[in-house]
Amino acid sequence: MREITILLLLLQATAINAGSYSLWTLATYIYGKTQFPEFSIVLMVDDIQIEYYDSNIKRVVSRRPQNTTAEEDDAIPADYDTVINDMYRTMRKRLYLMTDELSHTEGVHVYQKRAGCELHGDRESPAMMWDAYDGTEALSYNMQKYTFNPLWPQFEWDSLTKQAVLIDFKDMYLPLCIKTLKKEKHVVLRKERPKVSLLHKEGTGEMRVSCLATGFYPRHINLTMLRDGHPIPEEELILGDLLPNGDGTYQLRRTLSVGAEELRERHHYTCSVTHLTLDNKLDISWVYFKKRRRDYL
Ligand SMILES: *[C@@H]1O[C@H](CO)[C@@H](O)[C@H](O)[C@H]1NC(C)=O
Ligand SMILES: *[C@@H]1O[C@H](CO)[C@@H](O)[C@H](O)[C@H]1NC(C)=O
Repeated sequence: MREITILLLLLQATAINAGSYSLWTLATYIYGKTQFPEFSIVLMVDDIQIEYYDSNIKRVVSRRPQNTTAEEDDAIPADYDTVINDMYRTMRKRLYLMTDELSHTEGVHVYQKRAGCELHGDRESPAMMWDAYDGTEALSYNMQKYTFNPLWPQFEWDSLTKQAVLIDFKDMYLPLCIKTLKKEKHVVLRKERPKVSLLHKEGTGEMRVSCLATGFYPRHINLTMLRDGHPIPEEELILGDLLPNGDGTYQLRRTLSVGAEELRERHHYTCSVTHLTLDNKLDISWVYFKKRRRDYL
């Protein structure tokens, strides 16, 4: 459940347009006993994780995909220790205030913070921040606009706090965020070609034909299934979700259920894939031939 919430927050955080990049920290503070560390932070460029910290290991570790590791002299600047400590302190304080005032002292409660910035070509966004308590948005801020969820007055800022936050964002967080993003954005210039296969599995009276594309990056891909050269409408297909592989690449699957009658018609099925890494579209075809016993045997 918790992991699903985290994933949702992350998915919102990915830049979509070419030439646009985003840097996000996602911090999670957990109240109560779980198998997860009490406090953890991931640093991401778009959808690629580059750094990780948690309160068990107490140090920042690189999660950069292989081949994109920063040079030696690109080590994490000391500013990050300050950011991590600030986040730890403020999140801990507010979470304990919340659980106390709401009498949420039993069970598990989660406080999450997503903060970061974007680059659109040369144009820099303001620094942005969202807080969520138990998976519901509690606060949002972008240096101009601030809103809080009236359910939780604990997230309301007075005017002095607003001034102080704005100064911190202007003088420290935004410049640090943009500087880091410019340095790290190369990790999302990674290009990995999809490996495509057409799989078929015989069931009772039907055949399941699947197109699987895996190992690709970036995650934008078009995967179409064709029957005798004509695209099969999506309603006829079982659409899999875009899933992350462990190495920062993605996989996607589409499946068609082919009944006995359609099988006898011997259609040609094709997987057609377009992706940034492919000059032309990649087509893989398959046709069903029933194994027949020869008459003379
Ligand atoms: C980078 O990745 C490619 C394959 O993706 C591999 O052949 C090469 O050895 C890698 N280079 C390094 C320095 O890891
Ligand atoms: C997917 O198809 C659309 C429409 O044809 C096209 O605009 C887009 O560039 C394609 N995306 C990829 C990753 O090939």
